[in-house]
Amino acid sequence: AGGPWEECFEAAAQLALRAGQIIRKALSEEKRVSTKTSAADLVTETDHMVEALILQELQQRFPSHRFIAEEAAAAGAKCVLTPSPTWIVDPIDGTCNFVHRFPTVAVSIGFAVNQELEFGVIYHCTEERLYTGRRGRGAFCNGQRLRVSGETDLSKALVLTEIGPRRDPTTLKLFLSNMERLLRAGAHGVRVIGSSTLALCHLASGAADAYYQFGLHCWDLAAATVIIREAGGVVMDTSGGPLDLMSCRVVAAGTREMAVLIAQALQTINYGRDDER
Ligand code: IPD
Repeated sequence: AGGPWEECFEAAAQLALRAGQIIRKALSEEKRVSTKTSAADLVTETDHMVEALILQELQQRFPSHRFIAEEAAAAGAKCVLTPSPTWIVDPIDGTCNFVHRFPTVAVSIGFAVNQELEFGVIYHCTEERLYTGRRGRGAFCNGQRLRVSGETDLSKALVLTEIGPRRDPTTLKLFLSNMERLLRAGAHGVRVIGSSTLALCHLASGAADAYYQFGLHCWDLAAATVIIREAGGVVMDTSGGPLDLMSCRVVAAGTREMAVLIAQALQTINYGRDDER
């Protein structure tokens, strides 16, 4: 057992649980809310506090590592994935849910080395579910092995997506028309739960057959990508090509057939790149 990144993995799991406790407690309290890139892109003091807690602890323990984190990026830090060991952190995924006390909120911590994702930890704060995935070692939720659905037929699929932060008419039109295309293709349903990472965990658990989104970020994707792949699923670009963590778009599914069908149905919404801001 063990492996070279064991200590990092253990640190990530412990920190996710600690952060989750703070978030769970803060969920029912009064919050001070600010906006970032749009009126629907929210941040609270808890996002900042939890990110500082996670980064301080990791920086202290692993001083040579690099960090990409949501609120640091919002404050202007660059998102670049170098070959160095890099932590990719979303302190609260589902901030809008958090603000509204809608109990679908997560902490997400991913870790990459040589630009390859090594492990991911996502903690569902209110349901106290710890999702983990380690490259070559499987994906688990509270110790139970995860397995994606084997569905290949879009007309039998439950599909998850998220709206993304923009609300301009062109983006909304494209967003709704993508949803319409999947429903016209006969998808059983399309769900929006307000947390990209937890939606991706549902996919990894086999509770949905596909996920797609434009406008998410590397910190929404990093940890979840390892978990899905280790649960037997595929994560790819919306063009059908290989995943690009910085491209702000994704298709994931239990099977390659399903992912390709979704990718083919979608029109692109261009959100730019995380590493070009
Ligand atoms: C966001 C949520 C939202 C999704 C966005 C994410 P945040 O994360 O997951 O559902 O639509 O793309 O960035 O801002 O709550 O960490």
